[in-house]
Amino acid sequence: MKKLKILITAGPTREYIDPVRFITNLSTGTIGYLLAKDARSRGHEVVLLSGPTHLRASKDIQVVRFNTALELLEQAYKHYSWADCIICASAVGDYRPVKIEAKKIKKGAKEKTLELTKNPDVLKELGKRKQNRVLIGFALETNDLLDNARAKLHEKNLDFIVANKLSAGNNPFGPGKTSVIIVGKDCIENLQHISKKELARIILDRAVKLCYSFIR
Ligand code: CTP
Repeated sequence: MKKLKILITAGPTREYIDPVRFITNLSTGTIGYLLAKDARSRGHEVVLLSGPTHLRASKDIQVVRFNTALELLEQAYKHYSWADCIICASAVGDYRPVKIEAKKIKKGAKEKTLELTKNPDVLKELGKRKQNRVLIGFALETNDLLDNARAKLHEKNLDFIVANKLSAGNNPFGPGKTSVIIVGKDCIENLQHISKKELARIILDRAVKLCYSFIR
């Protein structure tokens, strides 16, 4: 079988407010790094675009670091045509401050407003250029998991989406067990309380199978 070229994005973004403060989220990068490790152990070539995280990848995985959504978009475009398969597991901030202050903001007024502007949707942009590639996304929801995941699947032109629900019984962040629903155009798989390592294996099994179905 032809070895595949797999591009994986992992971890959070940081949108700077001033030199010492930023907007971020709870993503740790765990699933992205596990996907990269599993893909590499199968012999595929892997490029991992990584947001800020304490995780480390093995030396045979090319890691490209990003902080902001715009930096991620730039790197995603750069590696896109190389890849047979793209898995976007990063938690991208939807908004960034309109202005990044050059100096640390001093406290003063009792109230302060932070003006934000919308970031590009990296995955949606990639979906517009898909051609003969497999494109996989994640969804994080607090409600209407299936409806929201299906909407993202179509809107971003994905092959399948891994839908996570944040609830009292399920914390999708970090190394613990997780429950997800994998939603494709004609399929649904419900995975309850599995390890992230097992989830990475299942995602890659599906991704690789799809790649081989249309890549010669
Ligand atoms: N994503 C992206 N660029 C963004 C936002 C999200 O590439 N600006 C990608 C994520 O990497 C993930 C998928 O889109 O694979 C869904 O992300 P999610 O945060 O669940 O949803 P959003 O599209 O941001 O929509 P909303 O926050 O309104 O639920």
